[in-house]
Amino acid sequence: MEQYVIKGGNPLVGEVTIGGAKNAALGIITAAIMADEPVLLENMPDVSDISALLGAVSNIGASVTKRDRHTVLINGSTISDINVEYESIKKIRASYYLLGALLGKFKRAVVPLPGGCNIGSRPIDQHIKGFEALGADVKIQYGSVIAVAENLHGAHIYLDMASVGATINIMMAATLASGNTIIENAAREPHVVDVANFLNSMGANIKGAGTEVIRIKGVEKLHRSEYSIVPDMIEAGTYMMAAAATKGDILIKNVIPKHLEAITAKLQEIGCQVEEFDDSVRVSAKGRVGRTNIKTQPYPGYPTDMQPQMAAVLTTAVGPSIITESIFENRFKYADELARMGARIKVEGTTAIIEGVEGLTGARVSATDLRAGAALVIAALSAEGFSVIDEIGYIQRGYEDFEVKLASLGGQIKKIRTERELQRFIFRAG
Ligand code: EPZ
Repeated sequence: MEQYVIKGGNPLVGEVTIGGAKNAALGIITAAIMADEPVLLENMPDVSDISALLGAVSNIGASVTKRDRHTVLINGSTISDINVEYESIKKIRASYYLLGALLGKFKRAVVPLPGGCNIGSRPIDQHIKGFEALGADVKIQYGSVIAVAENLHGAHIYLDMASVGATINIMMAATLASGNTIIENAAREPHVVDVANFLNSMGANIKGAGTEVIRIKGVEKLHRSEYSIVPDMIEAGTYMMAAAATKGDILIKNVIPKHLEAITAKLQEIGCQVEEFDDSVRVSAKGRVGRTNIKTQPYPGYPTDMQPQMAAVLTTAVGPSIITESIFENRFKYADELARMGARIKVEGTTAIIEGVEGLTGARVSATDLRAGAALVIAALSAEGFSVIDEIGYIQRGYEDFEVKLASLGGQIKKIRTERELQRFIFRAG
């Protein structure tokens, strides 16, 4: 089983280039199969969630050709099946985007119900509400969502919460419905905007993405496109936190600074220097950071996907901090792991109270989900001594070459598979 071994204490210094946004690419891969012509996608992140979803679309018959690590050609004209298999949804929850794509294109879709995950139950009632409003008959049978429509018509849909997944799924189905659809209380995340921009590049007619009201004028069909995925704001934010935690100085390239504003504001509030350039940000920190309070919100608020990473930084802040997780019901599982490194975190429901300590010490810890795993790496890089991190498969779902990029910044981190490799790292890092 692969692990990370880390020797903490080195400030991370240098430059790192950010890849394409995983959460945009997932929606865009499923939207791509809605055309019956080739679609070329560039700046794709080379992470396991993307490989899993490319596998899912090829399993239903789409042709998928990887030109290189970051470029893939998809053609949906060869799709022969609208039944997505259980294995696909087990590997990647975002297979549920195939509901909107297949319902839009074929007026039929059968997709296994995605289970919960380590951060919460993650229902899809809002997705289903949207499909029914568009005229589909949706039922849940034998563990699958079965959506069928004579034809899809425009509708005025009001989401109970600004759900990213529901916004993207409904937007896809509405693209090929007849008439106009309005999605109220829509999610505004940059990856939602990217999926809308991609659909428009294929001939869709979507306006207002990035605001809470998205208007979609249904079109007959979609056509070929070449598209480059937006930079990943969460990957960028993760390296910003790594600079803060290790008292380093990192230039993070290929970003859209506007997407990072909530993260930048919080880092400046706790005493970090953040300089914004056209397509990069530079983050540096000198001594221990100050304390702050965080409340996660839908975009443009502080992102829930940056909550664990900020917690890792605040474990050694001067003074107590409070984190309120208002999006998911169970996103503090990493707290017990950070406690093994000497952090003092008290979790009460959806609130965590973090008492800043002088410093952390290395320990053997286990990733509990994607962003929690990234937080443990950040904590280990700032800790005194050696750490070993288990379950790094979670991390590889969303971070391309994570240990390579961190090592290029001076981080003493290595991916290992055997005890021998562990001993060799410890001997060398001394
Ligand atoms: C997307 O998940 C992201 N995943 C998540 O990132 C991210 O944390 C989340 O948006 C919020 O930004 C992808 O884009 C693949 P939601 P999603 O629907 O779409 C509730 C990562 O680390 N809800 O915006 O599933 C839901 O339970 C991942 O990259 C319903 O109740 O999130 C949650 O409490 C983790 N009913 C809240 O809304 C629904 O029908 C927000 O969920 C849908 C959602």
